Order: sequence, then C-alpha cells, then structure tokens
Amino acid sequence: PGAISDLVESRLRDVADFPKPGVVFKDITPLLGDPAAFGEVVRALAARHTESGSRLDSVAGVEARGFIIGAALAHELGVGFVPVRKAGKLPGETVQRTYDLEYGSATIEVHADAVEPGERVLLVDDVLATGGTAIAAWDLLDDCGAEVVEFATVVELAFLGGREAMGARPVHSLHVVGGPGDA
Ligand code: PRP
Ligand code: MG
Repeated sequence: PGAISDLVESRLRDVADFPKPGVVFKDITPLLGDPAAFGEVVRALAARHTESGSRLDSVAGVEARGFIIGAALAHELGVGFVPVRKAGKLPGETVQRTYDLEYGSATIEVHADAVEPGERVLLVDDVLATGGTAIAAWDLLDDCGAEVVEFATVVELAFLGGREAMGARPVHSLHVVGGPGDA
C-alpha cells in the first residue's frame, strides 16, 4: 500500500509465460522508460538512508537489472557503486559465491578489493523472488568484510518466499506482489 507502491505497480508490465509457461514476468521496462517515475523510485529508495542518519559508504547492485537501479541510487546518494557480476566478467582478482537455481546453479562475483573492511553497503536489485540471488550477493559482500545494511528492491514477489529465505538480513521493498493491499 502507499503512493510509491501504487506508482511502481502502474509502471510494471505483466508478461505471461515468460521465461517459461505458467510464469508471469514482472517487467520493469515501463518504469525505466518513464523519467518521472524512475526518479520517484530512486528517491524513495534513497530517502530512508538519507533520513536514517547512519553512514552509508556504497551501493552494490547485481547484474544485470540491479545495475540499472543500483547505479542510479548510488549517484542519488553520492556514494560509489559496486558491481556484483555474473562469473567471468570482472578483470581483477575476485571472490565468488555459487547458488542454486531451479535448474542448475549460478555463480556471481565481486572484485576482492571492491569494499573496505567494515564498509557499510546497501545491496540493491530490481526484484526479490526466491531470494537466491540476494542471499548469495549479501553473503559475498559479507565474505569481503562489508557490513551490508539492507537489501532494497523495487518489487517483491511475496508468494516465492524470498523475505523468509533472507532470514535475519533486512529487506526493504517498494512494491509487494501478493502482499497486503495487493488484490
Ligand atoms: C532476476 C532478478 C533478480 C533475480 C531474483 O535476475 O533481476 O536478480 O532474478 O530472483 P531470485 O530472488 O529467485 O534469485 P536474472 O538473473 O533472471 O536476470 P537479469 O540478468 O536480467 O537481472
Ligand atoms: Mg537480476
């Protein structure tokens, strides 16, 4: 519920049977294509951190769609951006985490020197589904000595249980699909 949730919902496109039959894909490209709405979303994600008064050193985003939201958010907050990439893309020494997908597994990595020990990092992605990606990215940053302060996402698919899977790792989402107020 709330204005920002309604705004996000209005700029999502449901695509049936993508990437496979029976799945309704939540497409954020209408949101990205609307500069006023994209700006509102970025400012909403930034506001709770500027208002909290606690130090934030960087924003980390997960390839690929987390780069779009994360880079804009880092710029809005005036902090650096840390790319969490799919394996094999970063040129320097890296630290990796492998996680399970429905079929097979995926590996993500960051540069070993991407964060300083104790650096306070906000982790961002576009969508929280099962939580597999967010947990792997969180634990990877933790492996590097970062203090991850929160996982922030534009859309949370509540029926996939990502928030529960995240356990004690705090989650903040602007719009919850299948949550309270979402009929
Ligand atoms: C999507 C989405 C999240 C992730 C959420 O990324 O952007 O990163 O899935 O799913 P989970 O909570 O079940 O892990 P995906 O890897 O499909 O592709 P992308 O490269 O387009 O971001
Ligand atoms: Mg992704």
